[in-house]
Amino acid sequence: MQFIHPIKKTFNKVFALSQFDAQKQSSIIPIRHMNFDFESAKIDPKFYMNAELASAYFASLSIFLTYGEDLVIDTARYHRDLLQDARLKQRVSSLIGQEALHSKLHEELNDAYMEKDLPVKLFRTLAGWVFDYGFNRLPQPMKLSLMAGIEHFTAVLAEYMMNHEQVFFSSQDEKQRAIWMWHMLEESEHKDIAYDVFQNLSNNYALRIAGFFPALITILVLISAASLLVPFYREPKNLIRWQYWKDMPRSFQLIFGLKDGVYGSSWKHIFDYLRPSFHPNDYDTSDFLAYYKERLLNADNGVLAPYFVKEFTPTLKV
Ligand SMILES: [Fe+2]
Ligand SMILES: [Fe+2]
Repeated sequence: MQFIHPIKKTFNKVFALSQFDAQKQSSIIPIRHMNFDFESAKIDPKFYMNAELASAYFASLSIFLTYGEDLVIDTARYHRDLLQDARLKQRVSSLIGQEALHSKLHEELNDAYMEKDLPVKLFRTLAGWVFDYGFNRLPQPMKLSLMAGIEHFTAVLAEYMMNHEQVFFSSQDEKQRAIWMWHMLEESEHKDIAYDVFQNLSNNYALRIAGFFPALITILVLISAASLLVPFYREPKNLIRWQYWKDMPRSFQLIFGLKDGVYGSSWKHIFDYLRPSFHPNDYDTSDFLAYYKERLLNADNGVLAPYFVKEFTPTLKV
C-alpha cells in the first residue's frame, strides 16, 4: 500500500493559505456530464484492493451516498435563495449540478450492483429510513450543518483517494475506477462550498459541530456495519469460509488502519473540523486538482475521456 506520489509532499501539508491561494481554491467549477453505461457482468466485486469487505464498504457507500447527495441538493437549493453573494450563489449552483450527476450515475452503478448480488434494495430501504424519517425532517439550519458535515467527510475521502492513486488501479474494472475518480475529483473541487454557505448564513460553531456527528456515525459506523452483511447476502456459506474471515482484518486495515487506512490515517483531518477556526481550504489541494484534471480529463488519454459527454458552468447572476 506504500505509494509515493510525485506531489504527495505538497499535498499532505496544511498551509496557512494566503489570500491568493484561497481564491485559487474557490474558483468557479464546471458541471461535467458522464456516461458510464455500466454492465453488471463486468463489475468487479473486489474492486477495492482485491479485498471483499473493503470493496463492500465502497459499494455500500455508493448506495448511501446518493441519499446524502439528495439531501445536499435540496438543502443547497433552499439556502441558495437566502444568499446575497452572487459568486457564492453561482458556486452553489455548481455544487448542486455536480451532486445531481453523482447521485444519478451512482444510482446507475447501484442498479448494476443489484444484478451482482449486492443487497441494494435492502440498503436503499435502510438509507430511506435514516434519511426520510430522520435527516430530511430536520429543521433547515440543522440540515445546513449536516450538509457541511457530509461534505467534510467526502472531502477527506477524496483527499485520501487522490493521495493513494494506486487504489483505483488495483482492479481492471475501468468503469468503477472512472466513476470513483470523477467523483473524488469533484468532491475535492467543491469541498468548501457547503462550508462557506453555512458560515455565511449561520456561523454558529455549536450548530456546525452538531452536524458533524450524524455524518460521522453514518459514514463510518452505519455504512461499515451494513457492509458486513454483503458477503452473507451474496452467499450465506461465506460464514464458514476461511477466505471471508481472512479478508476481514485486511479490509478493516484498509478502511480504518492508522497507518494507511482510508479513515484511520485521516483521523487528524476528520477531527480538525472541530477546530473553531477550521476551513476546508486549510488543506490545499490545488496542486492535486491540477494533476487530476490532466490525468482524468485529457482528451487523448485521460481516464474519463471515453465517458465524458459535456460540461458547462452556471452563469453568474448579479
Ligand atoms: Fe458527490
Ligand atoms: Fe460533495
